[in-house]
Amino acid sequence: MPSVAVIGAQWGDEGKGKVTHYLAQQADMVVRSQGGNNAGHTVVVGDQVFKLHLLPSGILYPGCQAVIGNGVVLDPEVLLAEIDYLEGRNIDTSALVISDRAHLILPYHRLLDALEEDGRAERKIGTTRRGVGPAYMDKNARYGIRTVDLFEPSRLRELVIWNVERVNRVLERVYSVEPVSADEMLSICTTAAKRLAGLVADTSVLVNAALDQGQRVVFEGSQGTFLDIDHGTYPYVTSSHPVAGGVTIGSGVGPSRIDRVLGVVKAYTTRVGDGPMVTELSDETGERIRQVGHEFGTTTGRPRRVGWLDGVMLRYAARVNGLDALALNHLDVLSGMDTVRLCVAYELDGSRLVHYPASLSALERAKPVYLDLPGWPAFSPEISRRQELPGAAETFLQAIEQEVGLPLAVISTGRERGHTLILDDLFSPVQHSST
Ligand code: IMP
Repeated sequence: MPSVAVIGAQWGDEGKGKVTHYLAQQADMVVRSQGGNNAGHTVVVGDQVFKLHLLPSGILYPGCQAVIGNGVVLDPEVLLAEIDYLEGRNIDTSALVISDRAHLILPYHRLLDALEEDGRAERKIGTTRRGVGPAYMDKNARYGIRTVDLFEPSRLRELVIWNVERVNRVLERVYSVEPVSADEMLSICTTAAKRLAGLVADTSVLVNAALDQGQRVVFEGSQGTFLDIDHGTYPYVTSSHPVAGGVTIGSGVGPSRIDRVLGVVKAYTTRVGDGPMVTELSDETGERIRQVGHEFGTTTGRPRRVGWLDGVMLRYAARVNGLDALALNHLDVLSGMDTVRLCVAYELDGSRLVHYPASLSALERAKPVYLDLPGWPAFSPEISRRQELPGAAETFLQAIEQEVGLPLAVISTGRERGHTLILDDLFSPVQHSST
């Protein structure tokens, strides 16, 4: 059962798509376990560029089954639009399967997301306003509507009316805005039920059967470790579990079924949305990295905040995810700089911190302790061996491996898919030592 989980080790946007696509070409199944259409990835297949927010990228590869697991929150309007978009570009979407336990995002979730965010004034999270948080709130508060409900019309009607009445009380009394219409919600659900009939199943059965048969399964992470509701920079987080543990809950497999956990990082740090970021660069260097790295959000187009690579964060990500190896993206973006910096610890009130703190005020006050390393000249993105990298780039990579205590399994050398050094068989199980 060769399975690999691809996990964001920073604040999302690490370039997980590039690694997932490499793996998806050889995979039998690609599974998404959490998040919703707050995610965004640009997929390049041949000379075609696809922008996906919800569908697992496996959908682009013939012979690969694309699974939306129970932990995903699903906006039916977005899902249908994404299916139409791909079909319009001659991509066969018939290999898509959706969990019968996935919860729905309806227009009132989007509305509440925007109202709640605006109501937070200076405590804004910077959400994507896609209704993801309110949908997970309903799930946890046990109000949620699941895909399975789409196919039980009388129960669906009852659930929609009950939810709309409840939500309208909040909309009118708390936010003084127009109520939403139950008929509109029902019509969205009915359209979804018609079009998704035959696609909704118990995906845990399918994923476990694929693993039993020794098929290659990729668990495609969304967002990143520091956006995890438990392990991220709370409250500046998303509402799901982007960490490796979220894969098991969100796709209905046990932890023992994941053979390898790959943590994806950029050669620097980025963040969209608010919240502390210890290595943030608000100067020309940050602007240079933003421009060269095209650091603007796929989902919202927002400029991403940029900073040096943070080894304290990566050690934390290695620990909470049980990472086996790292995939490092955007090394080329740092080419041509005189010096590159790697944060190895934080200094807080005269003490040295090596573990990422929970306290927001500690994170706001912490100062990065940097290891300064010489920069390197631009190198060809076409190189095929790690040994061909400039010496100073290799020194930087070794410093990362040493700081984090993990080997690099993938190094990305340029923007295109082929610009990637694969240093290991990513599907092979990792032999853990007992030390
Ligand atoms: P939400 O997931 O829309 O509720 O947003 C919560 C936080 O997570 C905000 O700071 C978003 O910018 C961030 N976020 C959500 N999804 C992504 C993603 O795919 N990449 C980067 N940041 C994300």
